[in-house]
Amino acid sequence: MRVVLLGPPGAGKGTQATGIEEKYNIVHISTGDIFRKNVKEGTPLGKQAQAYMDKGELVPDELVIALVQDRLKQDDCKNGYLLDGFPRTVFQAEAMEKLGIDVDKVVDIQVGRDTLIKRATGRRVCKKCGETYHISFRPTKVEGVCDKCGGEVAHRADDQEATVARRIDVYLTETAPLVDYYEKKGKIVHVDGEQEASTVQEKIFAALGD
Ligand code: AP5
Ligand code: MG
Ligand code: ZN
Repeated sequence: MRVVLLGPPGAGKGTQATGIEEKYNIVHISTGDIFRKNVKEGTPLGKQAQAYMDKGELVPDELVIALVQDRLKQDDCKNGYLLDGFPRTVFQAEAMEKLGIDVDKVVDIQVGRDTLIKRATGRRVCKKCGETYHISFRPTKVEGVCDKCGGEVAHRADDQEATVARRIDVYLTETAPLVDYYEKKGKIVHVDGEQEASTVQEKIFAALGD
């Protein structure tokens, strides 16, 4: 199965990805996570991407497409993949089709602006293992310490309120047209993301089928 997770910043793509990955035994590929890893390691790609990410803008299409093309060649993608945060423009979607990268289903997680701001500004991420928390909705047992690995949990660099607002605007202008794009192809399923994470998960499983 080849699935795309579509949804604005803070919609819960990463949160939902973990369960989908396990249930369908497909590999979770988050372009945002790959960029953040490269930023952390100071690679040339990370250096190019960082300025865009810090401002809440999209990284240029060419960079993203090359990265995804390369990633999908790896062996672990043979059983299918879950693309989180890609494609993010119609240009990227068309480019992946030209490269022969197919998609079976697109899950559109719908969440309104106020909730998105609350979710993103309250998010905390483990610096060591990447586990995601939220100060109100999914707090760590001990403040500032990851439940899973004991690492330090911190704010993501682009989760300041002004940057989140910019990311939402960019989503609406650059990414939201993909909803129509995949609607026309009959591949999209819409899920109300403003519910408990476990309820959202059930709805996604129901939409993707057992
Ligand atoms: P990326 O990392 O993909 O960020 P994003 O799309 O802005 O999405 P987020 O990761 O912020 O949100 P999410 O939907 O994963 O939510 P989460 O599950 O964490 O991209 C970052 C940047 O990289 C971009 O801005 C761009 O610069 C660049 N980039 C990446 N891909 C690109 C591409 N294809 N083209 C160009 N540039 C690209 O949840 C958020 C919080 O809410 C968490 O705290 C969580 O615990 C909580 N939460 C989740 N679900 C629920 C729920 N149901 N109820 C209550 N709380 C919940
Ligand atoms: Mg994410
Ligand atoms: Zn951790």
